[in-house]
Amino acid sequence: MSDELKRLAAERAVADVEPGMKLGIGTGSTAEHFVRALGQRVRDGLDVIGVPTSERTAELAKAEGITLTTLEEMPELDLTIDGADELDPQLVLIKGGGGALLREKIVAAASKRMIVIADVGKLVDVVGAYPLPIEVIPFGLGATWKALEACLVANDLPVKMALRGGDEHPFVTDGGHYIIDAHLERIPHPACLADDLTAVPGVVEHGMFISLATKAYVAGPEGVITVED
Ligand code: A5P
Repeated sequence: MSDELKRLAAERAVADVEPGMKLGIGTGSTAEHFVRALGQRVRDGLDVIGVPTSERTAELAKAEGITLTTLEEMPELDLTIDGADELDPQLVLIKGGGGALLREKIVAAASKRMIVIADVGKLVDVVGAYPLPIEVIPFGLGATWKALEACLVANDLPVKMALRGGDEHPFVTDGGHYIIDAHLERIPHPACLADDLTAVPGVVEHGMFISLATKAYVAGPEGVITVED
């Protein structure tokens, strides 16, 4: 059911893609539906070029016949389409469940517009039930961890963190970093927390996307609704 809803949201978004557009192409199971639907339009003659947000997306997009480039070649994009792990009505997102948050944020920030595609189960009043991914440099992990604990205490949030993949075999991102998932339950003040996390040495990026998405297509049993801030 949820996969079918993801497909519906992705197909709604692909209808917004216009000839000649420079696209940011997201990562995750919902974004994969988008890539497949975009591939079909490309095979039908649509001329677009895309920057993928992960190696995984690059592979699928190539297989679908979508022309790809980089932000070095094309530093400004028209539109990014990507999934999210959670979103609220103001379009604050949590992303990074698939581990691609850093490239996803760089690509979204390079785009004039970002459309989020999601099933209705991800739309919440306040983000935070989904663990917040924090991408960190492997060097100095113990010190970064301690500083993150202090940051969460200062923000009156639960200090419950886990290294993704575990100590023995940590998950490594496309950028060669680790991810710490913070189980915060509720993030009432995302912008304050975002500033504080960014100030911690060793933190490369966090999964809160604030003021980046311009619209979301959210698919539920009754169809696809548009969320705009
Ligand atoms: C990848 O790093 C994530 O940000 C995904 O975009 C997000 O997790 C949504 O994934 P699904 O579409 O697989 O739920």
